Amino acid sequence: MKDIQFTYSYALDNNALHSYKEETLSALRTLTEGTGAGNDFLGWLSLPKDIRSQVSTIQQTADRLRRQCDMIVCVGIGGSYLGAKAVIDALQSSFAYCNKPQIVYAGNSIGEDYLYELQTLLRDRNFGIICISKSGTTTEPALAFRLLKQQLEEQAGKEVARERIVCITDAKKGALRTLATQEGYDTFVIEDNIGGRFSVLSPVGLLPIACAGLDINALLDGAEKMMACCTAADFEHNPALHYAASRNHLYRQGKKIELLVNYHPKLHYVSEWWKQLYGESEGKQNKGIFPASVDFTTDLHSMGQYVQEGERHLFETVISVEQPEHKVVVPTDDANLDGLNFLAGKRVDEVNKMAELGTRLAHMDGGVPNLLIQMPALNEYALGQLIAFFEVACGVSGYMLGVNPFNQPGVEAYKKNMFALLRKPGYEEATAAIEKRISQQR
Ligand code: PA5
Repeated sequence: MKDIQFTYSYALDNNALHSYKEETLSALRTLTEGTGAGNDFLGWLSLPKDIRSQVSTIQQTADRLRRQCDMIVCVGIGGSYLGAKAVIDALQSSFAYCNKPQIVYAGNSIGEDYLYELQTLLRDRNFGIICISKSGTTTEPALAFRLLKQQLEEQAGKEVARERIVCITDAKKGALRTLATQEGYDTFVIEDNIGGRFSVLSPVGLLPIACAGLDINALLDGAEKMMACCTAADFEHNPALHYAASRNHLYRQGKKIELLVNYHPKLHYVSEWWKQLYGESEGKQNKGIFPASVDFTTDLHSMGQYVQEGERHLFETVISVEQPEHKVVVPTDDANLDGLNFLAGKRVDEVNKMAELGTRLAHMDGGVPNLLIQMPALNEYALGQLIAFFEVACGVSGYMLGVNPFNQPGVEAYKKNMFALLRKPGYEEATAAIEKRISQQR
């Protein structure tokens, strides 16, 4: 099977790339030898191999849920749902009603209307729940799980609900672990040494992906091969080192924003997963490339003007898919009233590819350096490779930047304020302080 390819040459020359050889190799050693900050969160490096012993249990659980449910709700936020949604959206039909069972998501926001609409939809469904939270205490998924668990128990009875709920959480700690033990739910463990945004190849991602009917072994095969390639101390043939070198080079030249670009709407959530991976890993100590994303050609009609002519602080990383899964050919039309006969007989993908090439050239002419990732196809194996490539490059890139890529201290700030405002027990002092601050602002 063909591997994904990374090309830097539209953004920097060979000499510039090679000037980062020692720096990237040193960052890679820090990662693989576990000598850097956050070295207690490196379990993801060996996940594609380590998780194999659990694959058959994950598959059996998924097969059971697939038999029992016409809809499965994945409850989780951040790293606890983005990886699964990225892979499922990329590989399933874009039209929900074509997918059986349908995978839907909750607990990734606090939108009341969303929850109301979801609960209404689930009213006449045989649904199941996969509740994922490493800490087991995150408010958004806990709130959604409370509502959906009660609904399932009311609709199907406590015994059936017990069979249709699976929890993925810490082995011992957290409210979700306590609840799952008391209720007797099936559980999978998120190991201590795997952070949320690096957990897609653990049960966190694999169970929902298997529930969607996708091949988790192929995903792991692709990831295992790319993980080996990206952790090898071979600068010439290591795409993760090239990517880490290229983006840090561009950042140091003042390109502070990286746009991940795709030309297939199915890849939208790959970008969302990537944004969390890089944003939470690198955005620290007032440093870090801002990870943003666009779906082309859609966003060429909204963001294209800015990318072409706005402030020159951008670079693009384009994900290009060589072969789409399906073939659609533009028909001939005798009247040719739309003037499109020049496209007749061509595949839609050929039009898309010319839009892609034309856009890359235009953006480069406009001063936006382009990095390129070529995927041979959209399948499990290639997505496994992409995940491993981005994860290793993220660790290396974070160490090059001088931050701990594996913590996320900044995420706590909003939680503290929210709990204080909601008068959560234990937050009395913070409540008093925030209320004083608000009254002074009035
Ligand atoms: O990457 C991370 O660690 C975070 O984004 C978490 O995944 C997210 O905050 C959800 O946390 P938890 O799984 O503990 O509910």
